[in-house]
Amino acid sequence: MTDQPRNLLLPSMGEDDMQAEVIELPLAPGTPFAKGDVLVIIESDKATLEVPAPDDGSIVALKVQVGSTVQKDSLLLEYQASTASQATPTSTPQRNDSQPDSAPASTSPPASPASTPAPAPAAAPHPASQPARTSGPVYAGPAVRRLARQLGIDLTQVSGTGNRSRIQLEDLHLWVRTTLQKGAAAAPALPATEWPDLSQYGAIKEIPLSRIQKVSARRLHASWVNIPHVCQHDQAEISAMEQLRAQINKANQASQAKQHEQKARLTPLPFLIKACVAALTEFPLFRSALTPDGTTRIERDSYHIGIAVDTEKGLLVPTIRDADQRNLHELATEAAQLAQQARDGKLSPAQMAGAVFTISSLGHLGGTGFTPIINPPQVAILGVSKIQERLAPAKNSTSETSFRVERLLPLSLSYDHRLINGVDAVRFTRAICQALEQPETLAIDPTG
Ligand code: COA
Repeated sequence: MTDQPRNLLLPSMGEDDMQAEVIELPLAPGTPFAKGDVLVIIESDKATLEVPAPDDGSIVALKVQVGSTVQKDSLLLEYQASTASQATPTSTPQRNDSQPDSAPASTSPPASPASTPAPAPAAAPHPASQPARTSGPVYAGPAVRRLARQLGIDLTQVSGTGNRSRIQLEDLHLWVRTTLQKGAAAAPALPATEWPDLSQYGAIKEIPLSRIQKVSARRLHASWVNIPHVCQHDQAEISAMEQLRAQINKANQASQAKQHEQKARLTPLPFLIKACVAALTEFPLFRSALTPDGTTRIERDSYHIGIAVDTEKGLLVPTIRDADQRNLHELATEAAQLAQQARDGKLSPAQMAGAVFTISSLGHLGGTGFTPIINPPQVAILGVSKIQERLAPAKNSTSETSFRVERLLPLSLSYDHRLINGVDAVRFTRAICQALEQPETLAIDPTG
């Protein structure tokens, strides 16, 4: 190979400003490929597309990762062409959405490990009865992958009967049939809801859900039907916290004006994160996961906190890592940055993984309480509603007519009742309230 590496750019998907997400990179750098092999699979709101190799060659460097957002002319990867042919720098994506995934498998060898650039031997055909693979790449076209994602099926569990064990639609259908038959014997099916013809009652409009909405709908449903949720409500008296928050914000505003530095404004959220960390430290049960068979509790010694963020395309939950090691300003800054990235559609999957506990704050909008849905494998989630004000007898006052305004923050903790009992939940929620009621402790900077 004597050529300089070439760039593979994403060609137009029909609309030049259309954005899509990289959902699969089938080949690792160093892997040889043949012209027409699929190098990148992307998915937009409208379709799943395969980007084929414009020539024989091997990947030099991937320039995107799974989860990256791409559009026309985005640099996908650099490759070394193995012939001096006139390869074009872009290739034509193959649209597979409306077609069954019956395209013949590529004649190229399967992906070899990233560290083995030498061409791999041609693959032998696999017998139809081969069991599901336990490791290695999964070969399947977009239609199969899309259906698997919609049904929540892990393709590594499915045996492929195509060339190189490529999973065909029929394989997936067979897997679903077999699994349903097994499952039907083991558990009763959920009753279906009725679906009347809505147009008989007036004009209707069909609006497809966004990808994010579809994914979160599936996850929320799975959580709701698999985990027995119980919700514990409480209120924290946060007058002192609100006073401290106002003082800090005022002082920051003054110092910012002098020093032209930009500090994130404190909302109640960073105080809540700190209070949750304090309660999670005291009650490891709430930073645990329960194995799917319900037999083992996995205690987690990390304090990564998920923050539910409302975006135009749906609910996203980015993670603030090591919240126990951050001060209030760092937490406020990171929460604001992650929320902005979420709204701009720029969060990577890694930024949404690993949380041990989640906070869903709707308090800026209103409400007095709600039932948040647990984000498995977590076992609890805290919902936050709008601060309420009420008159209460003034402290240390002997006069019956002396009152003060109390500020109360409504908290709603949903927990997995398989693992957590009501008494644990009351103690944990009280611990969060007590931490919020001692705001000076929350303001201590763990970074020194
Ligand atoms: N009560 C009263 N006011 C509140 C409040 C509460 N519980 N929480 C926040 N506020 C105030 C803030 O202080 C801020 O006002 P200020 O600037 O005068 O101080 C204002 O509301 C806006 O706050 P916001 O910008 O939303 O910041 P935040 O730090 O409170 O929250 C997010 C950030 C990302 C969590 C939030 O914007 C968000 O997206 N929440 C949605 C969560 C969700 O969708 N959950 C799903 C449930 S199914």
